[in-house]
Amino acid sequence: GPGDPIPQPPEHWIGGNTSDVDPSFFVSSVWSLAATYGPIFRLRLWNRSLLVVSSRELVDEVCDEKRFEKIPTGNLTTLRKLLGSGLFTAFTDEHEWYLAHRILMPAMGPVAVRRMFDQMVDCVSQMILKWDRLGPDHVISGPDDFSRLTFEVIGLTAMNHRFNCFYAEEMPKFCVAMADALIEAGKMANRMALENTLRVFSHRKFHEDVKYMKGVADHIIADRKANPRPDLQDLLNTMLYGKDPVSGEQMTDELIQNELITFLIAGHETTSGTMNFMLLNMLQNPHVLRKCQQEVDEVVGDSVLSLEHLPKLTYVWATLRETLRYLGPIGGFQRHSKRDTVLGGRYKIHPNEVILINLRGLHHNTASYGPDANVFRPERFLNGGWESLPPNAWKPFGTGARGCPGRAIAEQEMIIAWALMLQRFNFELADPSYKLKIKATLTMKPDNFNFKARHRPGKD
Ligand code: HEM
Repeated sequence: GPGDPIPQPPEHWIGGNTSDVDPSFFVSSVWSLAATYGPIFRLRLWNRSLLVVSSRELVDEVCDEKRFEKIPTGNLTTLRKLLGSGLFTAFTDEHEWYLAHRILMPAMGPVAVRRMFDQMVDCVSQMILKWDRLGPDHVISGPDDFSRLTFEVIGLTAMNHRFNCFYAEEMPKFCVAMADALIEAGKMANRMALENTLRVFSHRKFHEDVKYMKGVADHIIADRKANPRPDLQDLLNTMLYGKDPVSGEQMTDELIQNELITFLIAGHETTSGTMNFMLLNMLQNPHVLRKCQQEVDEVVGDSVLSLEHLPKLTYVWATLRETLRYLGPIGGFQRHSKRDTVLGGRYKIHPNEVILINLRGLHHNTASYGPDANVFRPERFLNGGWESLPPNAWKPFGTGARGCPGRAIAEQEMIIAWALMLQRFNFELADPSYKLKIKATLTMKPDNFNFKARHRPGKD
């Protein structure tokens, strides 16, 4: 009944459970602790108390918007130094969140996203051309080229800006600065305040990275103001000229700067991670790769890809959804209860406590996905399998008002990418004995994942 004790690993006399987690790969500790302590457990870290929930029933409850909300704490507090009150790091009751949310949401829905089709094809084509010219023996780094792709797509679709990632040997400086800053932000959140003060060097580097990223955003805004493009309907124009339908208010330059950086970060890391995991899953399950390619051959064949083809690629969609279930780029997301409450009819919860939704735990629940929940099997989402999932059993894009506004963009760009990639290439692992090793920053991706792409005969 209410008041039941919440399972918790034994606390150490200093730092509580701090030494039970790996600060450089927090989520992996969550996975192994969940295996021992079950669908709900508590961790007392030096600076916060955390509840990890992993079962579909508990997650369903925590997704209830009347009782629970997102509050940016932990990692997200540090990230606010970079993203301010941008959408991702804003408090839900913060004025800036409502303003940006109301102005931007209509420009990111499925209808608006259809307008981005040609630009997405443009970016994917650059990648395809590169692979084609480098040839079948060239070793492609998945993390590098898929980051180039998703970064190029978000730059072009959101702000009509070409970073030209495929025309440089080095990764764009923004990507490097961003990756470094995210790693540092993650570490800062798990370090003690005193230690953070002592780390003068990494501190200075973090602020330089932040300054660089703000500079990029400022440049893009200034350029658009100096050279207006009334012909475009991109996110940048929406932010510069859009008015809040409720108050008539417009976004300030500072807020636009925060949103641009937010989009560049949120828009590319996650999507790139998903592309990497999906190709790896397909290469490790060759029948899935074969079926995806067969479907592209049947639906698209040798014709020019069009918007109408996309919803017909049902097996490719199922493979994407299964990838996000099996192991996606995001380990979890945070909720807080709005007031004292009882979870699962048993556990007393206080609003100060961070509740972390453990996505891998949720997505590998046998109650939702059956006894083969640990197997990669896109077929589970076909023939009504997708439609008949219990509520809140699949949450890779977060939940409610704070759920991912970029979902339609990400999904469309990925389906386009797979259609065009599978139409032209056969893929193989560069190292057939490759075993998944996860590289974790704010998001996850397979470390050192390399492959080769061979042009299919007769497919120009
Ligand atoms: C929020 C996942 C792609 C922009 C989120 C959240 C998740 C998520 C889980 C909620 C985070 C939380 O509750 O703390 C993903 C995944 C993606 C993806 C798995 C790709 C496969 C994108 C893209 C964009 C984007 C392409 C931009 C175009 C955002 C923004 C937020 C967000 C701005 C914050 C929204 C708010 O709180 O109002 N995403 N995302 N995401 N995502 Fe995505």
